[in-house]
Amino acid sequence: MYDLIKSTATFIQEKTNNFSPLTGIILGTGLGGLVNEIEAEFVLPYETIPNFPVSTVEGHSGKLIFGKLSGKNVVAMQGRFHFYEGYSLQQVVFPVRVMKLLGIERLFVSNASGGVNPSFEIGDLMIQTDHINLFPGNPLIGPNDKRFGPRFPDMSEPYDLTMITLAKKIAAELKMRVVEGVYVGMSGPTFETPAEYKYVRNVGGDAVGMSTVPEVIAARHMAIPCFAMSVITDLGVPGKIVEVTHADVQKAAEISEKKMTQLMKEMVARL
Ligand code: HPA
Repeated sequence: MYDLIKSTATFIQEKTNNFSPLTGIILGTGLGGLVNEIEAEFVLPYETIPNFPVSTVEGHSGKLIFGKLSGKNVVAMQGRFHFYEGYSLQQVVFPVRVMKLLGIERLFVSNASGGVNPSFEIGDLMIQTDHINLFPGNPLIGPNDKRFGPRFPDMSEPYDLTMITLAKKIAAELKMRVVEGVYVGMSGPTFETPAEYKYVRNVGGDAVGMSTVPEVIAARHMAIPCFAMSVITDLGVPGKIVEVTHADVQKAAEISEKKMTQLMKEMVARL
């Protein structure tokens, strides 16, 4: 596995003149706008990158974008791999490991999620302070390669406290409402039943979604500090549960995207 990841990283380094990104960015559903803020220097479609997961869907599976955001070198994944698409959790985290070998020193992740905290509103930005892994597995199951990290990785600070503090400071300066909470990661692709939303709340969650947790587990295994932000696109709160479609999620995410883009851009500028 290491050799495969290494050869992919080497390929990318050759294609990008050894571009060295400091921040890795994974963009979620309806949250691709940050990409437009990047002064792209190299763009690699996933299908041109050796060993990258192959898209299960027709057409474009996504791109890796190398360039400058707020004057800093970044690599962004436009389009991510979800477990519900049929990828293994190891495939889902493959790009994160490649980004580590490319030299990233921190990871930003965004996602859309359903809020189960009754004080949340649709459109809220939630800073993830922690997560609960309810995927039916863990990307680190299997032989451990010490070159990535230890067999039993510490998860006492899954989301970097310095970056959380910075995000809150910037949000306050921009007079932007942000909430904080625990993200519960589940496989999907079904949205939750009312009883499942209640379960997510009861186990200590504030929001629930179908991504992010595998990538953050792999990143923490490799000691990469992580920052994740969730856009609350619907509510799994008793009395407020309505039918939800992917289109609703996309629409709600797009509305909040500007705020998230502004905040993340400013964070990169100050890190
Ligand atoms: N549940 C799971 N994933 C989601 C949701 C939800 O309510 N909204 C957006 N992604």
